[in-house]
Amino acid sequence: MFICVCHALPEQTVRTLAREGMSFEEIQAVTGCATCCGSCREFAETIVLESRALPASGPALPVLAIA
Ligand code: FES
Repeated sequence: MFICVCHALPEQTVRTLAREGMSFEEIQAVTGCATCCGSCREFAETIVLESRALPASGPALPVLAIA
């Protein structure tokens, strides 16, 4: 699933970069996430916070469906 449609950025890429220790701002600079329409920003920041809270070798969190 794309987290940022404007840049065709997969959610997993954001999770992986966050687990490697990158901040949202660093991920944004590298991928362009949330630099176009910005509608992905809140969710992307949440994904980064969730991913950074996990141990590097821990399992991925399930993706919550937003109704
Ligand atoms: S969906 Fe990410 S900038 Fe538009």
